[in-house]
Amino acid sequence: ARPLTPTIDPCWLGPAVTAVLRGRHVSLLAAGPVTDTLRQELEAAVGPAGTVGGDLTGEPVLVLARRDLLPDATTLTGPVRRAVDAAHGLGGEGFALVGDGRSAAIVATGERGLLYGYFHLLRSAATAGSADALPTLDVVREPALAIRMINQWDNTSAGDHLGSVERGYAGDSIFFRDGRMVADRRRIADYARLLASVGINAVSINNVNVHPAAVRLLTDGLPDVADVARIFRGFGISTYLSVNFASPLVLGDLPTADPCDASVVAWWAGVAERIHREIPDFGGFVVKANSEGQPGPFDYGRDHVDGANLLAGALAPFGGRVFWRCFVYDHRQDWRDRSTDRARAAHDHFAALDGRFADNVVLQVKCGPMDFQVREPVSPLALAMTRTNTVVEFQITQEYTGQQIDLCCLLPQWQEFLAFDVSGEGGDTLACALARRSASSGVCAVSNIGDDANWTGHKLAQANLYGFGRLAWDPALSPREILDEWVALTFPDAADLHETLVELQLGSWSTYEMYTAPLGVGWMVTPHTHYGPAVDGYEYSKWGTYHFADRDGLGVDRSVATGTGFAGQYPTAWAQRYEHLETCPDELLLFFHHVPYLHRLHTGETVIQHIYDTHVEGARRVVTMRDLWRSLEGRLDDVSWTNVMERLERQVGSAREWRDQVNTYFFRKSGIPDRHGRVIH
Ligand code: GCU
Repeated sequence: ARPLTPTIDPCWLGPAVTAVLRGRHVSLLAAGPVTDTLRQELEAAVGPAGTVGGDLTGEPVLVLARRDLLPDATTLTGPVRRAVDAAHGLGGEGFALVGDGRSAAIVATGERGLLYGYFHLLRSAATAGSADALPTLDVVREPALAIRMINQWDNTSAGDHLGSVERGYAGDSIFFRDGRMVADRRRIADYARLLASVGINAVSINNVNVHPAAVRLLTDGLPDVADVARIFRGFGISTYLSVNFASPLVLGDLPTADPCDASVVAWWAGVAERIHREIPDFGGFVVKANSEGQPGPFDYGRDHVDGANLLAGALAPFGGRVFWRCFVYDHRQDWRDRSTDRARAAHDHFAALDGRFADNVVLQVKCGPMDFQVREPVSPLALAMTRTNTVVEFQITQEYTGQQIDLCCLLPQWQEFLAFDVSGEGGDTLACALARRSASSGVCAVSNIGDDANWTGHKLAQANLYGFGRLAWDPALSPREILDEWVALTFPDAADLHETLVELQLGSWSTYEMYTAPLGVGWMVTPHTHYGPAVDGYEYSKWGTYHFADRDGLGVDRSVATGTGFAGQYPTAWAQRYEHLETCPDELLLFFHHVPYLHRLHTGETVIQHIYDTHVEGARRVVTMRDLWRSLEGRLDDVSWTNVMERLERQVGSAREWRDQVNTYFFRKSGIPDRHGRVIH
């Protein structure tokens, strides 16, 4: 493929991945911006000894064709003929890919299908293990979810709150520097390519906390945004901007941002029109309103419907969408107030509004009711909005899951969320429900990349970005299947370590869960930075994130009978299951219930002993991972090995700290000794 920016890690698209096409005669029958990209990809892949033609002459070994540009099917033979038949009825992103080992064909209705088919071919060749043989296969693929989006939390300048990428652990922004878009945009193109290769079709490029300087992206910054949108367009990705609800005020144009004020309506219509002129296929806006201090419709006595529909109205003439985030809760709670439960907030705010949003509004709901903890139940709001476009939001950047210092492969967690049985009675999974809901539903996730040479800080954290895209395309894929692909593509020269690398990733989420906050209760992290333990760090804070540990027990009573009533926000079967101690799953016990330390889990173990045991075991597993990695020296490329080694050393220290602080804290609270008599400090 196109040469990557020198010194930058190619992730899962290294040179070996395209070896299968070297020296081949390939034909591409399509037109448009994505086709132009594809042609560059193919030219680089076949190299000087190969050719990329535009018709079927000369017996091309690989044909990539839009169905409507091929001659009548009866005149075709071999894989092309078969692929034409198979591609019948596909939408714009689907493809048929047929290969008989000697030649192959990718046929699609639209050029994006061809791009996705091309990357599927590369994946298939890599996972088949013979890097230079064309695979034998006969598949038709379409994405399960229409919206597969990445949210950058990039600030326009490093002076903004929390650095240049909010909750970023891999360097500075690849988009912005010193208040402006970067001049050298090759890295953005590399990123677009990585995202397209896993099927991502939308990206918002700036932080959801839109600081005053970033509001200017709508005005002076627009030509630069248009250029970035052009880059993403070439990879079939539409570009979105996060906007500040008070933009008309911030820019000094109007005295109000009231969504029901005619001048505000006209202002946003004008903005949308100007953007559309520069970016004809502009995706739309992402909005964090009345959330953690951001302005919003409440400031004017209006509601979320007024706010979202205002922006939707402005974008509608141009086909744009508004992603309205539902991360709305009281962030100035009094910890003494036991009647307020942050977990309830999103559902309390939005569920009753179902059906009132414009067709081009998409509600963006965090996957869990709190905030990307290592373990949370699925958000009941994601299940509730049956008449509103919805995307479920995940967090690839590891804010609460080790910050790309600790290894924590999140695919098993996301897969569990997407496979959640919506009714609790064996019907649709959450992924199916989203697919069924509308052509404007799907998933989005906060990116984990920055300008570090390896993109993600921790080399192995690349798998989370890769895997998010793959799961969004096909939520039925298992974490193991995805990791099989990722390892084969990322470490093509380490086939003997394949299983080791897959296993390391697969077990890392449960290991992380073991040594951090127990049984779904969450938090216990250092306030603000969110790395490392501080058991009471958030206990007397305004953030609504408590564990309520006392000398007798811990956990949050969210039952309907005696607690906050959160359990009652679920469909009946789930509400019943979560309500009662007998049926509440162990891993979520402390999310839903306050129990005594000697309460017995379904495993038969007491809660306190479970805490002691899992913390010792989790920290032990990290040492094992570190020792295993040490033994791999010389068997992987040095840069990757050294990077991961350094991070695992830090993870060992962090896990030890978690183990000792959590176990000591609960021993001191409860006075109950560890049955195994291990040292507690
Ligand atoms: C978390 C995170 C913030 C972020 C917020 C959001 O609270 O710590 O940095 O802005 O989520 O999703 O809006």
